Amino acid sequence: MKLDIEIIKSEAEELLSSAVESRSLAGWHSKYLGKKGILRTLTADVSGLSIEEKKELGRKVNELKSFLEELYAESVSSVTSIKKDKPLENFYKTLPGKKPEIGHLHLITQAIREINEVFSKLGFIRVRYPEVEWDYYSFEALNMPKTHPARDEWETFFIDLPEDPKLGKVVITPHTSNGQIREMLKGQLPIRMLNISRCGRRQSDINHVPTFYQFEGLVVDKNISITHLKGVLEYLIYNFFGEETKFRLRPYDFRFTEPSFEVDVSCGICGGKGCRFCKEGWVELGGAGMVHPNVLRAGGIDPETYSGFAFGWGVERVLMMRTGLKIDDIRYLFENNLKFLEQF
Ligand code: DAH
Repeated sequence: MKLDIEIIKSEAEELLSSAVESRSLAGWHSKYLGKKGILRTLTADVSGLSIEEKKELGRKVNELKSFLEELYAESVSSVTSIKKDKPLENFYKTLPGKKPEIGHLHLITQAIREINEVFSKLGFIRVRYPEVEWDYYSFEALNMPKTHPARDEWETFFIDLPEDPKLGKVVITPHTSNGQIREMLKGQLPIRMLNISRCGRRQSDINHVPTFYQFEGLVVDKNISITHLKGVLEYLIYNFFGEETKFRLRPYDFRFTEPSFEVDVSCGICGGKGCRFCKEGWVELGGAGMVHPNVLRAGGIDPETYSGFAFGWGVERVLMMRTGLKIDDIRYLFENNLKFLEQF
């Protein structure tokens, strides 16, 4: 087979320059460099050739290949640069463009920001404390000694790490109350803290997920009383849910507050009538109470001079209770299904 490389080269060059003109290089590429292109066909049948001839053919084909590839690469860049300074011929200015899809913040992030905004108006300062935490800050300093049965309620994940003789095991913090101790130990009074963080517990149903968010408020100052606590909670509830929402403080028992309450609001899904989520019209948002003297002491604060209140609620729970959202299964918030998320 006689191979006239020069002819192929000059023909390729000519065709490529007209391809550049019309800005469509794909046809040229498949004609010369494609799977069934000229380059491939040249070496498709070499059965009649001697070893010497095969070597010679290989050399020529390789040379042709680099020539064509270089030529193509140059043209690609010239086509892209033409695009920049010359208007495209078949570009219709009046055709509507394709809008890029615009995302938005996740519902939970939106809620966190809103909660933060409500509290910042009352002078609360947002802080962050470890999500992987020592047992001491999560339990012991909160008046829950090592073997206390109340710990069972915080179905805790333990991390497989060596125990510290003083601080105990490492846990995924099961609530944001660890922030109370860490904040007090900073030694700056008075305190108006808002700790929002991810927490973890071994739980999963329409009301619970293994990883969720809580926000914890802590106020410590002289002469702080339950009326302050009630006023702050009312402010949050009216601002976040609207003034038609009812709420109640139900006496409860937490080791770190005395007295302690659970705060319920009228269910935002059914409006308080009773549904599969709330059953009887009320939904528990979380706990609250007056900081226990032992907790103040663990934080290095004298309970004779100072008092405080605290509360810790679930971000998702608060979000779900918003009138109109009607999210009746907490797990939707974590499935990252765009069809769900795009509605908000
Ligand atoms: N940490 C508690 C929980 O996760 C909620 C809580 C109750 C926080 C009472 C508080 C409080 O600050 O005073 O269930």
